[in-house]
Amino acid sequence: MPNAIVIRAYGDSDQLKFEDIAQPEPAEGEILVRQTAVGVNYHDVYVRSGLYKTLDLPGIPGCEAVGVVESVGESVKGLKPGDRIAYVTGGYGAYASHRTLAATLAVPIPDDVSDETAASNLLRAMTVDMLTAYVHPIKPGITVLVHAAAGGVGRMLCQSAANMGAVVIGTVGTEAKAGIAKSNGCNHTIKYREVDFVQSLAELTDGTGVDIVYDSVGADTFAGSIQSLALCGHLVNFGQSSGAVDPITMGTLATKSLTVSRPILFHYLQNSNQYRRMAQKAMHNFQSGVLSPAQATPMALAYASQAHDTLERMTGGGSLVLIP
Ligand SMILES: NC(=O)c1ccc[n+]([C@@H]2O[C@H](COP(=O)([O-])OP(=O)(O)OC[C@H]3O[C@@H](n4cnc5c(N)ncnc54)[C@H](OP(=O)(O)O)[C@@H]3O)[C@@H](O)[C@H]2O)c1
Repeated sequence: MPNAIVIRAYGDSDQLKFEDIAQPEPAEGEILVRQTAVGVNYHDVYVRSGLYKTLDLPGIPGCEAVGVVESVGESVKGLKPGDRIAYVTGGYGAYASHRTLAATLAVPIPDDVSDETAASNLLRAMTVDMLTAYVHPIKPGITVLVHAAAGGVGRMLCQSAANMGAVVIGTVGTEAKAGIAKSNGCNHTIKYREVDFVQSLAELTDGTGVDIVYDSVGADTFAGSIQSLALCGHLVNFGQSSGAVDPITMGTLATKSLTVSRPILFHYLQNSNQYRRMAQKAMHNFQSGVLSPAQATPMALAYASQAHDTLERMTGGGSLVLIP
């Protein structure tokens, strides 16, 4: 019997209920996927808690997974039963053993990229691509600040920015995470729960500030991120792990001719050609080692609540993968 994690009410991780579901059937243009590995993202925590009300309840959360095509609906071309595919979707439904999916979302996985790696990192790798190539193309020699630099997105963002020639400063919660951030391309790390990161960053940059701040922490860091920018700097706020950000005024931006962006990956994936390009680039980067994600930590799908607790305890590291 197919099963899934169903959310019936927003709240704590115990709202993630493991339930049997009806056997899904692919409609025209869809495929039926037997899933082998499901990625866990911080986004799923926001959806479960009700911070984002983007999943209609009752609903199945989850934005990415890997699996094997079991059957194809009418008019599906280029896919057949037995094909191994990955996908990312803002339409949710990934926390399941079986699901139907628009065939256009299915991306082939190179043989030497594991199910766990693809399932737990495709969305994060595409996010890094969005941040470094679309939101603000990184030029060699610039200085960037990456908050939560040892996290799932954080470490691959550091790898990419360093590869592109940026000087990378990362904030981290612990000494162990400082080591992880440094081994992923950070030139300097700041333990932002122990010291004033704005002051440390000013010292590291001789008071100049950085060209770009990548801030996914939100409430706790946003004001300091603004202070940490150089003249004409760009604050890219792409998450809110510590809570939602307060409104800012145009006057705040005018003090240093600053730019603020609030990108969401799913908006960059609306164009199916761009979706495919970004997904293929991510797979290529996993294969070539340009991106080296954290070793995946598998957990049974039924224990999705433990995966969420791990993320919220700040020990996720971007590697959690649910096995149906
Ligand atoms: N905009 C988009 O399209 C998009 C796409 C993907 C991900 N994201 C965002 O990117 C961020 C990273 O995602 P991820 O899935 O890879 O998660 P993650 O980095 O594995 O986990 C979040 C990290 O944030 C830090 N953090 C600081 N304050 C926190 C708090 N109060 N609660 C929890 N964590 C806190 C922790 O690192 P330290 O211990 O080092 O502080 C924690 O490990 C999330 O905010 C996510 O929403 C956005």
